Amino acid sequence: MLDAARVKQDFPVFDAYPDLVYLDSTATSQKPRAVIDAMTRFQAETNANPHRGIYALAEAATTAYEQARADVARFLGADPQTLVWTRNATEAINLVARAWGATNLGPKDTVVLTVMEHHSNIVPWQLLAKEKGFRIHYLPITKEGRLDMAKAREVIRPGVKLLSFAHMSNLLGVVNPVKDLIELAHRTGAIAVVDGAQAAAHLPVNVQELGADCYAFSGHKMLGPFGIGGLLAKRELLEAMPPYQGGGDMIREVTLDGATWNDVPQKFEAGTPNAVGAIGLATAVEYLTKLGMENVWQHEHDLAEYTLQKLDELPGVTTYGPHSDDRGGVIAFTIKDVHPHDIASMLDEQGIAVRAGHHCAQPLHAALGIPSSARASFGVYTLKEDVDALVGGIKKVLNVFM
Ligand SMILES: Cc1ncc(COP(=O)(O)O)c(C=O)c1O
Repeated sequence: MLDAARVKQDFPVFDAYPDLVYLDSTATSQKPRAVIDAMTRFQAETNANPHRGIYALAEAATTAYEQARADVARFLGADPQTLVWTRNATEAINLVARAWGATNLGPKDTVVLTVMEHHSNIVPWQLLAKEKGFRIHYLPITKEGRLDMAKAREVIRPGVKLLSFAHMSNLLGVVNPVKDLIELAHRTGAIAVVDGAQAAAHLPVNVQELGADCYAFSGHKMLGPFGIGGLLAKRELLEAMPPYQGGGDMIREVTLDGATWNDVPQKFEAGTPNAVGAIGLATAVEYLTKLGMENVWQHEHDLAEYTLQKLDELPGVTTYGPHSDDRGGVIAFTIKDVHPHDIASMLDEQGIAVRAGHHCAQPLHAALGIPSSARASFGVYTLKEDVDALVGGIKKVLNVFM
């Protein structure tokens, strides 16, 4: 079991704002003291440019940086040499689109996405489709807010070269049947790209067991800092893909006529890396590992169930996504005739931070028939009392508007 009240004490933001009810962990998680301290320590005691110097301090920086890669890869069940550091999940998906997509996709091909994708898993493919002429097919959702698997089985057939989908939706909270989808993709010879931005810090993930060809994640949503994330990809894919960006460290040799490439993963890591971010993220996953990812999932799932039960009792409140075991701690909701921005503003006046808008998921809102929504989302430090405060806050909104 996770003792969220104990865990909360590790997050200095709640010392600074003791009354803050933070319900926006889907946008970004708060950071524990251990992460902030590890980053400060690295900059104070180990600061040198990794992979570039042979003096002792530079060696120490390289060792710490590569250890961070190993730790984060292990956390997600991957070989460290298959982890490419990126700025965030968005950059990881763009990397796959540019490096793999640009060389493997053409006018006869189809890329399958879902309507529940974050814009970061739609727009890179749309940009590339304009250049390469391939078709994009979007899998729909069912009435309960799950991916329509019957449609997936119908659509994912020969001619589909790539399937890309969110492990967990940032709006519906639903965890997609990743293994089944990957199997469907592989049966037709397509590669499967999983957007793990909302899953990596909320449930146990083992990319090798899942069989994902590519898996994207963002450190800032995993109790880690901004500016670090990664792409995990099968080694043979990384070996076959051309570089994504050119610059220092990604080359083996450069002449005035051209260049040869470094080994993977460095082939995709041009320029000075975000070593501080990598150290911070490694500390964050160590923290999560100590909590136990099964416990994290159970805690956030239980909070989601509790929230749905409470919100369903309120007149005029609609929640989205299934009420079921495969539901994580993200609750999007609307209130009849009240703009989500008004909901968020009124909650903010009560010290409750929720997000309002389209949450970078406009096509999903369109599929749900709403322009926008309010969203409460949970983390390891979220308490039942936070949900009670939310419910009380929504009741006040209802009193004003109804
Ligand atoms: C499902 C999903 N994918 C991708 C992203 C993009 O993450 P980032 O902005 O950190 O790249 C988000 C961010 O909210 C998300 O929820």
